[in-house]
Amino acid sequence: MQTAVKQVRDLAIEQPSSVRVFESFGIDYCCGGRKPLEQVCEEQQISLPEILERLAEAADTTPQPTSPWTKASLEELATYIMDKCHAPTRTELQRLTALADKVHNRHGARHPELAHVQSLVQQILDEMMPHMEKEERVLFPYIVNLEQADQNGTSKPYAFFGNVAHPIAAMMAEHDIVGSALAEIRTLTNNYQLPDGACPTYYALYLTLTEFESLTHHHVHLENNILFPRAIELSGKE
Ligand SMILES: [Fe+2]
Ligand SMILES: [Fe+2]
Repeated sequence: MQTAVKQVRDLAIEQPSSVRVFESFGIDYCCGGRKPLEQVCEEQQISLPEILERLAEAADTTPQPTSPWTKASLEELATYIMDKCHAPTRTELQRLTALADKVHNRHGARHPELAHVQSLVQQILDEMMPHMEKEERVLFPYIVNLEQADQNGTSKPYAFFGNVAHPIAAMMAEHDIVGSALAEIRTLTNNYQLPDGACPTYYALYLTLTEFESLTHHHVHLENNILFPRAIELSGKE
């Protein structure tokens, strides 16, 4: 299938080097990734030939890890997400809330959008902290048990929530809330453009926000596009 008509999320799974290209164009490949590349380009006014060229370059120059997460065990993937996504998300959100408070207190009078940025950062923290707890305490252990039962040929583990698709739908709805809040911050800050004479804390806030956005896109991509579909497939197996 031609790259232009493929969904952005599928390109991110098939060609991991595409993620950096999508990030550089501000393309959401996780929550909003279920759209063909050509449609995303049209909506965001991005040149399709240019992005196709960049994708081809990235594929040529980046060693492909052959999408290890489509092959690795779900237990390995869940552990990776907890160690490499959840742990830094907790640390970075603490930093971000402190930075957003500080920058708002100092510069809010001249930059009224900072009040909104601060409240969105707080909203993301309030959403993500219990979200990751639910995944770590309930959903991920269940997915690991499901995989073990499949490997051992035993019956599927009991779950109070019924089919695994139910908590997964709830988690994906929460991802959407966080994804929208991050997109709103990007718009409010005009793609993280610093005002003239921005102080180092202002700079640190924007830098941390861009890094956090990349981390969250990667995190949500691994869950929405790989872990969750694989778990749903497993739960449907006889
Ligand atoms: Fe997560
Ligand atoms: Fe999640």
